[in-house]
Amino acid sequence: MHNYYVVTLFPELIEPYLAHLPFKRALEKNLIQVRLVNLRDFAIDKRGTVDSPPYGSGPGMILRPEPLYNAVQSVAKGLTNNPRIIFLTPRGKTFNQQIAQEIAKAENMILICGRYEGFDQRVVEELQAEELSIGKYVLSGGEAAATVVLECSIRLIPGAIDNAKALVNESFNTANVEHPQYARPQTWRGRSVPKILTEGHHKKIASWKLSAKAWVE
Ligand code: ADE
Repeated sequence: MHNYYVVTLFPELIEPYLAHLPFKRALEKNLIQVRLVNLRDFAIDKRGTVDSPPYGSGPGMILRPEPLYNAVQSVAKGLTNNPRIIFLTPRGKTFNQQIAQEIAKAENMILICGRYEGFDQRVVEELQAEELSIGKYVLSGGEAAATVVLECSIRLIPGAIDNAKALVNESFNTANVEHPQYARPQTWRGRSVPKILTEGHHKKIASWKLSAKAWVE
């Protein structure tokens, strides 16, 4: 069982994904547990304060360290083995298929979503956490990023998706980069399916598929 926790101010952004693959099947089969932890429950006052203006001036608000720390501690204290703790931030190391493989093997993981202009850096140090980005662009918060990380990782857990063949390819640490695919009709708006795919020569088809596998850059 893999236990994944997401600390967020907006659990309702992530919740709908849990009803669809690969989350749905992994949850049904008890391969994973996903708990959404509302950061607001760890506010510093009755008004629900979780943020403050940045030191050294600057725009917007920053998530304070105490609510983040207390939210993580409240999850971690119930775990027998140390969790991997990851803050989602554009500053972080860029997420890739290899990290997804690691996460698919992690027993306990806590993902923390930033909002506003970010979070107090001291909490990252105090928790000895990692920082992960899903790409060199800035989102309004970490929720979409946490969902990407989870979806990508959970589909690698054996049993979470039907397509075991995909997992064989991905287990070599290279992503299962697909060759382009074609369906019917054979000719559409004057564009024909590559001839080799229509001729039934299996060896030639296999080598075409291999040569056409690449990331689009
Ligand atoms: N929060 C805002 N932008 C982000 C990004 N690119 N990756 C992860 N978390 C983020």
